[in-house]
Amino acid sequence: MGATPNDHDPGVLVSTKEKLGPTGRPLPSFPIPRPLAQHGPARIIAMCNQKGGVGKTTSTINLGAALAEYGRKVLLVDFDPQGALSVGLGVPIHELETTVYNLLVERGHDIHDVIQSTNTPGLDVLPANIDLSAAEVQLVNEVAREMVLARVLRPVTDDYDVILIDCQPSLGLLTVNALTAAHGVLIPLECEFFAMRGVALLIDTIDKVTDRLNPRLEIDGILATMYDGRTLHSRDVLASVVDHFGDKVFHTVIGRTVKFPDATLAAQPITAYASSHGSAEAYRQLARELIARGAAA
Ligand SMILES: Nc1ncnc2c1ncn2[C@@H]1O[C@H](COP(=O)(O)OP(=O)(O)OP(=O)(O)O)[C@@H](O)[C@H]1O
Ligand SMILES: [Mg+2]
Repeated sequence: MGATPNDHDPGVLVSTKEKLGPTGRPLPSFPIPRPLAQHGPARIIAMCNQKGGVGKTTSTINLGAALAEYGRKVLLVDFDPQGALSVGLGVPIHELETTVYNLLVERGHDIHDVIQSTNTPGLDVLPANIDLSAAEVQLVNEVAREMVLARVLRPVTDDYDVILIDCQPSLGLLTVNALTAAHGVLIPLECEFFAMRGVALLIDTIDKVTDRLNPRLEIDGILATMYDGRTLHSRDVLASVVDHFGDKVFHTVIGRTVKFPDATLAAQPITAYASSHGSAEAYRQLARELIARGAAA
């Protein structure tokens, strides 16, 4: 059972039960990553899609937490004035005296004083709040205004294995700063009808940044989120995303579940809030897939 003779060589048995993943491709197994003997320098990944509500922040928190579970030292950068990432990790954003905003626009701050640890061992956060909304305008007249975040992060890049930047839903100067600081981009796409709308513009922006500002930048992968395998609609959207982007699409797909908003309310990563739930396992698999692809240490 589960194996038939190969047409060309009847002596060779070929498995007919190769397991297909939700993306329609055979699902590889992603090994548990080896412990690291030493930490850093970090690979910096911008979590980017100018479409709102596609799972950028949720994926930043939970991929970060999963990487930290595997012993990686991880810094999450909140680069959205809404501060959802910081709130999702329990940081009281209205009480902060200094945030990433101050590091961007003022001299004399030490990033080490602004970074906060979280309840997840190995997972730190550089918080943001509504102050950051002024940065876009203030940076316009700066010299090398696209490279300010890269400069801000430089003193700590050797301390971490991975730095994930949670971008705001726009392709403005803050997002261009994130792309300029990054080695890779991870694009979350919600599995719904208009998922691909705007993606061409995002890819165009990434190409321009690669051309003019940051030649090392690569697209690490497209992450399908909020997938509901019971609906034909979700399956169709995912199939068209795979048609379009091929191997760039992660094998790992994040299902739609109310556990994510619940975990946000509890200000915890899903890996802590519902550690054995399938969606926590999905982000662990994404962490393993990212490492297996060489996009993280
Ligand atoms: N897989 C999922 N299943 C169900 N709900 C989800 C899932 N992922 C995220 N959500 C919920 O969808 C909403 C939007 O998610 P999230 O904040 O991560 O998106 P975002 O892309 O960061 O949004 P924004 O563009 O506003 O920053 C949140 O309420 C979140 O809890
Ligand atoms: Mg967000």
